[in-house]
Amino acid sequence: METLDKIIDVVAASAPDIRGGLAGRRRKADEENPSGETQMAADVWADEYLESELTAIEGVGEFASEEREDVIDCGEGLSVAIDPLDGSSNIKSNNSMGTIVGVYDAPLPASGRDLVASAYVLFGPITTMVVARAGTVTEYVVEDGNLRPVKKDLTLPHDPVVYGFGGRVPDWTDGFADYVDEIEDELKLRYGGAMIGDINQVLTYGGVFAYPGLQSRPEGKLRLQFEGNPMAYILESAGGRSSDGEQSLLDVEPESLHQRVPVHLGNDDLIDRLESTL
Ligand code: F6P
Ligand code: MG
Repeated sequence: METLDKIIDVVAASAPDIRGGLAGRRRKADEENPSGETQMAADVWADEYLESELTAIEGVGEFASEEREDVIDCGEGLSVAIDPLDGSSNIKSNNSMGTIVGVYDAPLPASGRDLVASAYVLFGPITTMVVARAGTVTEYVVEDGNLRPVKKDLTLPHDPVVYGFGGRVPDWTDGFADYVDEIEDELKLRYGGAMIGDINQVLTYGGVFAYPGLQSRPEGKLRLQFEGNPMAYILESAGGRSSDGEQSLLDVEPESLHQRVPVHLGNDDLIDRLESTL
């Protein structure tokens, strides 16, 4: 079996265990992640679980995670970058969260142009997995750790419906606030605090998700290797666009493993308008 298939299968097979282990891990861990965020016990556990499963795959050469400082060298082959539990602060309020995976054919930190696949598992009322590879996107339901396709060749709906933007409103830049003024007449607000859930809504209904650069933090919140690039790869494969404000996220120069980047993703027209307003 090809390494890429193995990686996708291992992530799917891990999903029921990770989901099953969340209930007892809603407390804070005593540690911070490399981005300075307080880790939840579930973050640490999901990270360790996926590290041991993914580094054991022959053909995986590097493993990196949002929850650990350095890249692990584990052989020859593809590089896997994960956000083990995206949106994990939602565990307290029992809202959506999930796992994001980027598979790069280059040493980390790598350019988004080196992605050969990316995927996310969404722990919603149903466990689903969205996989982008070779230019197509498929949505699966994860059943007993196996993948059952439910939507093949998934593309963004042409008439966008939803938007969801992170950051406190007074902290938005003037340019971003002007953009929001424009689009809030056309779309309805849906923001859940986990990019994985919010972006899944954009893929389902069409629209735009952003965690923009803020006045207090021009680089934004989300991380290029673990969040920005993999999600951009999925949205672009589904016919949408991604942007850091000026260019595709996939063209952002990787400088460090935990580098942050402003993230804007959605229907192409909405991202074109964002770039001309910012
Ligand atoms: O991984 C970071 C993250 O949890 C994203 O999933 C989400 O979009 C964002 O942070 C939410 O941040 P905030 O709590 O500031 O809205
Ligand atoms: Mg995250």
